[in-house]
Amino acid sequence: MQVEREETAVDRPVEWPRPGEGFGLGAPPFWVDELGFWIVSAYADVERVLLDPETFLSEEVVGPDRATTFAALMAERSDDPRAATAMTYFRLPPITSDGDLWRREHNFIAKAFTPKRVRALEPAMKELCEELTDAVAGRTSVPFVREFAVPLPVQLIAHALGLPAEDFANIKRWSDGFHHMIGSPQPSEEVIEEFLTACSEFTEYVLPLIEQRRREPASDVISALAGHNELGERMTNEEMQTMCSSLMLAGNETTTSALAGTMLFLVRSPGLQAELRADPTLIPALVEEGLRLSTPAQALFRKASADAEVGGVEVAKGQHVLLRFAAANRDPAQFEESLCPKLDRQDKRHLTFGRGIHTCLGAPLARTEIRIAFETLLARSSSITLSDREDAIVPGGNQVTAKVEEIYVDVDR
Ligand code: HEM
Repeated sequence: MQVEREETAVDRPVEWPRPGEGFGLGAPPFWVDELGFWIVSAYADVERVLLDPETFLSEEVVGPDRATTFAALMAERSDDPRAATAMTYFRLPPITSDGDLWRREHNFIAKAFTPKRVRALEPAMKELCEELTDAVAGRTSVPFVREFAVPLPVQLIAHALGLPAEDFANIKRWSDGFHHMIGSPQPSEEVIEEFLTACSEFTEYVLPLIEQRRREPASDVISALAGHNELGERMTNEEMQTMCSSLMLAGNETTTSALAGTMLFLVRSPGLQAELRADPTLIPALVEEGLRLSTPAQALFRKASADAEVGGVEVAKGQHVLLRFAAANRDPAQFEESLCPKLDRQDKRHLTFGRGIHTCLGAPLARTEIRIAFETLLARSSSITLSDREDAIVPGGNQVTAKVEEIYVDVDR
């Protein structure tokens, strides 16, 4: 089914290299002098880079020289005792790791995030979705991001890790503190301060929990991470701390964005909503199209460890390429009517969760969570519409991302 709807800034991948120059859907890679890196937009080219992790390294996924800038910022604050732990939290294992280190970290997480564990989390997901839906049902002008799309992933990842429910507000604050720092090419004083506070508070919070789970393992992810991998190895406490912050980060902002982006399609396409209400078995298809078009990780970097050819251009050793997942997911050469959410789309091979060795280990969890969220929202309401206010859709994002910052909806019981 094709759905006609009006487009806004949040529907589109950010314009590259400058506003007015188009979105580069399907375009061959090009070099931008003032940025100093290649921009890769076509689906086939993004996939080709992702499938060659030996040539295209992940060590600088969030941006060229970001770690060096960060180390210099921390060196300036060597008198601040909080800076001592900060380096630990600047990495995102295993997303920013390569080779043997990636293998080690990936194995630990893969062991902790088994399909069995995701299934075991389903009752908690249902309960959370019901609570959050009941709190918004029957109201108008509901800030969906603040009241649903933010708390659901935060509470769920905290629950999965085995963190106590009363700590959710702090967990969100720390997660934001890490996220804002890692996502800022030139972090402000305020962002640095927020990050340093998150580092010291989170360390103080999580370290005793890790030690306790080592002594008395429970059925949560921290206990699974604290155990041995198949080679009989264990992670150090410092590795565990970074791993926990990385999981909080990887699973929060992304899932929030996907929930908000999917809600956008639902409220702007009354036909789509009617179809889903009549046949809820179509909800997984909505989830896939929501994931494809919202593309929460809109663009990430790789660094060439050797000269390599991508889409007809020569990338030299040491150069960076920016992989525009959001553009690849709309490439008309890969997806017919690529800008429309289509519930009957056969090709579900979007790149929202990446491809190759770094493919998202939280994808089954995120997919299940988003499916249950929309099943519950649709089952416990008679209609969900965009609120009648000028700022009903608040676009957000930065120079490489476009997302829904807030979306106000009326939810009829
Ligand atoms: C809609 C939600 C999510 C999206 C869009 C998303 C997206 C991604 C992407 C694009 C990558 C690959 C990065 C790269 O190639 O450089 C990735 C990796 C990863 N994600 Fe997610 N993610 C989501 C949710 C989650 C959740 C809920 C968790 C865990 C709780 C998680 C954990 C991870 C981990 C551990 C990796 C690293 C895998 C590796 O490098 O071996 N993600 N994610």
